[in-house]
Amino acid sequence: RSPTSVRIVEVGPRDGLQNEKAIIPTAAKIELIDRLSRTGLRSIEATSFVSPKWVPQLADAAEVFAGIDKRDGISYPVLVPNETGYARAREAGAREVAVFTAASEAFNRRNTNAGIDESLQRFAPVLERAAADGVKVRGYVSTVLGCPYQGAVPLAEVVRVAKALHAMGCYEVSLGDTIGVGTPAKAREMLRAVATEVPMPALAVHFHDTWGQALANLLACLEEGVAVVDAAVSGAGGCPYAKGASGNVASEDVVYMLHGMGIRTGVDLDLLADTGRWLSALLGRDTGSKAGKALAAS
Ligand code: HMG
Ligand code: MG
Repeated sequence: RSPTSVRIVEVGPRDGLQNEKAIIPTAAKIELIDRLSRTGLRSIEATSFVSPKWVPQLADAAEVFAGIDKRDGISYPVLVPNETGYARAREAGAREVAVFTAASEAFNRRNTNAGIDESLQRFAPVLERAAADGVKVRGYVSTVLGCPYQGAVPLAEVVRVAKALHAMGCYEVSLGDTIGVGTPAKAREMLRAVATEVPMPALAVHFHDTWGQALANLLACLEEGVAVVDAAVSGAGGCPYAKGASGNVASEDVVYMLHGMGIRTGVDLDLLADTGRWLSALLGRDTGSKAGKALAAS
């Protein structure tokens, strides 16, 4: 049942950089995205038009978006939390946006100062305006396999929120294990449950690797037929409002695994790994990608 090709949604420039202590120069963010654009990726989440008080790391969203070399055939979605964010994103020229909520009430309050239903209400006018503007909207559900504040998250809530986002007009719903606590059987069960209400082609998975389970979880979900995978080059990432969250699954590792399984991605692994090493050097640390390390040593 595994797909024959997978679309990778590269979230490094957004999820990867939103949690960095050091402020990264705008020019470096632009260079990161331009490098990623040359690897064959078709979706690159560029930045966030959230409140700069909440995420100062991405306060330069408009400059970043204006500065990148937008290539034909590549989508550059940006995160928006509300209508203010949508207006800023449109002003900057964004043609795809992503809204985000959670399956855990406690996490959503810390992350967006709103309950789940309140956040869905905030998105309604965003989705209406987007439909009128011909802008595509992706939806995120966070904490699908556990919450740092409330612990267990009921599966029924994951299904309800994913279904609501899809019904509102999100063309794709990304299911996020924000703190990377999931394990394969639970990830599979969660995806199966959501897929009873949202068609599999409209679903994506988003794994963080805090407990080293991300690739295993991903494999379990591929076997269920999911064909869209979020990942961050060099394994960067984390959410400032999710205590204990660490990086996303590394894009290089995902590409290596998929190609090894005969699943196409359209991504050039060598170019991607070069970009991962470039980013790690910029951040002053070792790459979080095992494949990136192995390629450098070979
Ligand atoms: P709030 O403080 O309740 O909002 O924050 P507010 O409407 O009262 O606004 C407060 C101030 O922010 C006002 O300015 C607004 O104008 C301004 P002031 O009057 O004080 O000068 N403001 C904005 N400015 C720029 N852009 C905006 C915007 N909105 C308001 N869009 C809010 C509510 C949602 C805005 C805030 O909580 C927020 O921005 N949260 C974002 C948190 C975030 O980005 N988290 C990380 C992304 S989610 C994630 O990482 C998970 C994911 O990767 C999937 C997974 O792993 O599970 C997606
Ligand atoms: Mg994330």
